[in-house]
Parts: sequence; structure tokens; C-alpha cells
Amino acid sequence: MLVPRTTPLITGERICERVRELAVQIVDEYCGEEPFIAAGLLRGCYVFMADLMREISRLGGHVRELEFMVCSSYGSSTESSRTLEIQRDLNIDVRGERVLIVDDIVDTGHTLYAVKQMLLNRGADDLNTAVLLDKPSRREVAIDADFVGFTIENLFVVGYGLDYAQRYRELPHITVLEERPEPD
Ligand code: IMP
Ligand code: MG
Repeated sequence: MLVPRTTPLITGERICERVRELAVQIVDEYCGEEPFIAAGLLRGCYVFMADLMREISRLGGHVRELEFMVCSSYGSSTESSRTLEIQRDLNIDVRGERVLIVDDIVDTGHTLYAVKQMLLNRGADDLNTAVLLDKPSRREVAIDADFVGFTIENLFVVGYGLDYAQRYRELPHITVLEERPEPD
């Protein structure tokens, strides 16, 4: 049975602190005078995006619209390429718009890479990416996010929006999923 470890890998307090720091960095390095569209990748982004956007707003960053996409990437370890399936697209034309893509984690990199290419092809301008977590040891595609909360080891984590089979997104911290014997 796979269950979340009781001791957090990253506490809620630490996440909160780091999200504030990231917001400061994004306001300094990206926000500027022209407003931008934050494009969140559901469902993983929802907690991070909510906290990050409110911090950016507190700091006076000009967010124009929050938009969301639902996508999932399928693939097996025997395949070198994965395809991105868009289940719900953005509800806005991004041509000529500044766009900040927001996701929970960059793992193999396929999702972020594919979404970034797609929005660039649609004519998005000044496209940047922000993720809460980065697992560089798992990368299969050459892509790095512009703004990263925490770099972690090759561990499967849940909480703060991240799930395992749609569970544990509501946990206020991030924790490792571990094998525990079934109870009798
Ligand atoms: P990619 O492999 O970089 O394309 O990441 C695809 C998606 O896999 C991410 O957006 C997450 O939703 C999910 N994912 C990757 N690693 C984890 C993890 O450790 N916990 C939960 N979800 C993960
Ligand atoms: Mg995701």
C-alpha cells in the first residue's frame, strides 16, 4: 500500500516562505509594467497558483487574467516520446500576450516542453515558466523552468496540489509517498 509519509519533506510553513520569495523574484524579474496572463496547468497547479498569484498581487504585480488548461501526458518508459493530450484548452488567444505558465512540478519535462512550444506557436510573447518543484534527475527533455520553488531528489511526492491517483492534493505540506504493509 502506498501512503504519504507522516513527516513532511517540505513543511507548509517552508512552502509559504518560499512562495513569497518566488513572488518577489517574479515581480522583480518578470512582471514589469505590462500585465501578463498566468496559465495554470490543472489540476496540479491549483494550490501553488492560488498562493503565488495572491503574493504577486500583494507586491503590486500586474496579473491580467488567470487561465487554466487541463492536460495529461501519456507514455511508457519504453517510449522516447510522449504526447500531450489537451482535455481543456485555455479560454484566451495568447497571440502577442505575455504568458507565465504555472505548474506543480517539472519531472521528465515533457509536459512543460510541449505546452511551452504550443503557446509559442500560437504567438505568445515573453513566455516564462514557474514551477513549485523540480526533479532534474528525471529529465528526458532539455527544459528548465524560469522560476523554481524547490529542487528535489527522485522521489514521488504528494500534497499542496500534487496527487497520487487523485488523492492527497489537499495536504498542506509536501511529503513522500511510501510503501507500507496492508493492515490485517
Ligand atoms: P513531466 O514528466 O515533467 O511531463 O510531468 C508531468 C506531470 O506528472 C506533472 O505535471 C505532475 O502532475 C506529474 N508528476 C510528476 N512527478 C510527480 C510527483 O512526484 N508527484 C505527483 N505528480 C507528479
Ligand atoms: Mg501536472
